[in-house]
Amino acid sequence: MACALTRIVRTIFKFSLVSIFLVQSCLASPQLDLPPISSTQRYNNAGYGLLSSTQSSINSPGNQYDVQNQNFGFSTARPSQNPSTPGVFPVSSTFRGINPDINNNGYPNVNYGNGGNPSSTLRPYDETNRDDRIDINNDPNFRRNDPNFARNDPSYAGANPYDFNRGVNTNSIDDRFHQVNLQQVRDFLLKADDQASKECTNNVAAQWNFETDVNDGTQHAALDAQQRYTLFQRGLWEAAQQVPRGAIRDYATFRQLRLLSIIGPSALPPDQLDRYNRLINDMLAVYNTAEICAYNEPFKCGLHLQPELQFVMSHSRDWDELQHVWTEWRRNTGRRVRDLYEQLVDLTNQAARLNNFTDASAYWMFPYETVNMRQDVEEVWEQVKPLYELLHAYVRRRLREAYGPERISRSAPIPAHVLGDMWGQSWSGIVPFTLPYPGKTLVDVTPEMAQQGYTPLTIFQLAEEFFVSMNMSAMPPDFWALSVLDQPADRHVHCQPSAWDFCNRHDYRIKMCTHVDMKDLVTAHHEMAHIEYFLAYRNQPKVFRDGANPGFHEAIGEAIALAVASPRHLQTLGLVQKSVDDTAHDTNYLFTQAMDKLAFLPFALVMDRWRWDVFTGDVRKEQYNCHWWRLREQYQGIKPPVLRSELDFDPGSKYHIPANIPYIRYFVSTILQFQIYRALCERTGQFIPGDPSRPLHKCDIYRNPEAGRILTRIMERGSSVPWTQVLQETIGEGRLNGEALRDYFRPLEDWLRSENLRTGEYLGWSYDGDYCKFSIETAGLQVYGGFYNAAHRHFDVTSFVTLLLASFLTTVVMMRWR
Ligand SMILES: *[C@@H]1O[C@H](CO)[C@@H](O)[C@H](O)[C@H]1NC(C)=O
Ligand SMILES: *[C@@H]1O[C@H](CO)[C@@H](O)[C@H](O)[C@H]1NC(C)=O
Ligand SMILES: *[C@@H]1O[C@H](CO)[C@@H](O)[C@H](O)[C@H]1NC(C)=O
Ligand SMILES: [Zn+2]
Repeated sequence: MACALTRIVRTIFKFSLVSIFLVQSCLASPQLDLPPISSTQRYNNAGYGLLSSTQSSINSPGNQYDVQNQNFGFSTARPSQNPSTPGVFPVSSTFRGINPDINNNGYPNVNYGNGGNPSSTLRPYDETNRDDRIDINNDPNFRRNDPNFARNDPSYAGANPYDFNRGVNTNSIDDRFHQVNLQQVRDFLLKADDQASKECTNNVAAQWNFETDVNDGTQHAALDAQQRYTLFQRGLWEAAQQVPRGAIRDYATFRQLRLLSIIGPSALPPDQLDRYNRLINDMLAVYNTAEICAYNEPFKCGLHLQPELQFVMSHSRDWDELQHVWTEWRRNTGRRVRDLYEQLVDLTNQAARLNNFTDASAYWMFPYETVNMRQDVEEVWEQVKPLYELLHAYVRRRLREAYGPERISRSAPIPAHVLGDMWGQSWSGIVPFTLPYPGKTLVDVTPEMAQQGYTPLTIFQLAEEFFVSMNMSAMPPDFWALSVLDQPADRHVHCQPSAWDFCNRHDYRIKMCTHVDMKDLVTAHHEMAHIEYFLAYRNQPKVFRDGANPGFHEAIGEAIALAVASPRHLQTLGLVQKSVDDTAHDTNYLFTQAMDKLAFLPFALVMDRWRWDVFTGDVRKEQYNCHWWRLREQYQGIKPPVLRSELDFDPGSKYHIPANIPYIRYFVSTILQFQIYRALCERTGQFIPGDPSRPLHKCDIYRNPEAGRILTRIMERGSSVPWTQVLQETIGEGRLNGEALRDYFRPLEDWLRSENLRTGEYLGWSYDGDYCKFSIETAGLQVYGGFYNAAHRHFDVTSFVTLLLASFLTTVVMMRWR
């Protein structure tokens, strides 16, 4: 593969890019994570019209947001500021129009040149930059149009039911008063939106050029574009800070401003931000260049995570070799970044405080707009745990049979190194080894696809047809003209599949080096689901063009993938000839899904439970590693193969920790995909609870316009309202719920239960000794291998610094990579 040639550069760069996106999507997502407010507070006149942007003021009556009762309605009642002048809305500071001036490195041009009179200096809408090559409202390829959308209509605020200011009677004094302010704020937002979209287009284009034609020139251009965009974002943030917002009663306007006022680490002063970026870069440099020597071949060194170590972890069945790789990887990654990570924690908290959060955990939970994120995920986990314990007990038995009862005990946690990957996050690697019915192979349509002459192009045409069959959008012309669906022979491309939104409402692309096999058939549908999402919310303002929460994009893609990969759908497509409708096949199929998705859940939970505890200070620095193992044991039921100590730093051996990328979104999307899938199947009569002839895992939403309608309704609102509201109003569920996942795996659950009964398995696990010692001296640290390649590959990390600067690049979706 061409990708392997420049591996170092590729991985560093790729990782950096991913982190930009992921860090940011947290910021650009819906917000308003507020403590509950009492009814007296809410209707207290004094709370109204505050101009501060602190969180408490959001609870003012004008911005009613009753978190406790999950009532997101926006009251049209108009409390008066004081009883003697009922209905008059205070505007206590003059609004100044602010230009986030791209010619001024994105910093606002605060000199208005006219004595500070803002409205006359608001720049006119820039017609010359308008891109009208495609009229999206008359483009037959866009099946779903918003007839109300007009690009330059100042009162357009998206399809928002709370936009009650439209069409108000302007004759009364309070309305006029109000509208002056609102109009100015809207002018600002409109301009910001327009400029942010253009800046975004430039940046995404530069990143695209780099990823689809990797060379020094495109890399520099990508770095420059990224830096420029970051500066622009910061300028916009500073500008948005100065907009008075207390009197804004329009929900969409208010929410846009609110979203713009959170920018995460970029709020740090320049020297601190630089330090923040350097810390991450230094850690990622360690991570990305880490290499170890082979197990019994001390002179065979230079083995990297990808592909060598991951291959060993998923294919080797040699206990000692697995342990060697597991320990060595941690010695060369986590352990070497512990000190840097401790510094990063302080800086991340500092940045969060600058965004007016108590600490970074509050900032990371912010996009979920819930009162108690910890409790929410905990409750969902309790719903799923009985099923996890069944799987855990079954897998532990199969491993015990393979490695012997002296190594895998009947009732203890499972050693972490024999689960098929480096972190025990997905157990797919040991599926061939633990399959319930080994004789019955899984459905693989790859040979049939080759037989029928599939190509990368026809795979994507098939995916498009899948969505069109549900009355969803076809791909726009730019998609077919500009996507890279096949690995080009003449240049080097980053092959990680990804979906791209160029922020201009017509250019959407996929980049994927498609192979003609079953895996990529499913992935093509998954990626195209992201494009459907982009298309569905394309008429929203830029800040709302995002998933309803950070887990949504992925949840939609995976819900689609569940339907596409189902044996029934493959049969419909004519890729499976004979019927595969028997229990053995079903059990194997569900087991394979569970080893990936179900096994992953507690891991994802541990990743952020640990960091929440770290950020809040509940866990002190000298307990970092042992706390990690406490949580790993508690949720996953796994333990380290050798004793760990506080000299080690095992969280740091997983990419997202040194990269400082939140992880709970993967937990959320894994739960949510089943909720969405179940709702689609139930609404269309394909899944009937309790009816064994209509199990959830056999549901296929292909050719079902009703399913398409529900999906579109979920997607078209972007992040313009809280996700709980989106979900409530589309599928009638206002919160995360693990029961859908249980429904999906029901046949497997029954099978596992009776299988575990048959072999008399112990469900759950109990602690069986020391896993981690606080004291370094007593820890029996083991060193394997003995020879290490001293010549450390060196490269200049500073050029990557800018890549990590925060930006609003929520437009490239490649979250599948977890
Ligand atoms: C397809 O969508 C359009 C508009 O979005 C709608 O008017 C039409 O009724 C839908 N067709 C079906 C079969 O649902
Ligand atoms: C280890 O040693 C065995 C026998 O000496 C050899 O066949 C094998 O290739 C070596 N490497 C690994 C990774 O097992
Ligand atoms: C945070 O709060 C302070 C004081 O209340 C305020 O001056 C500042 O603008 C706020 N910052 C943000 C980012 O909202
Ligand atoms: Zn995805």
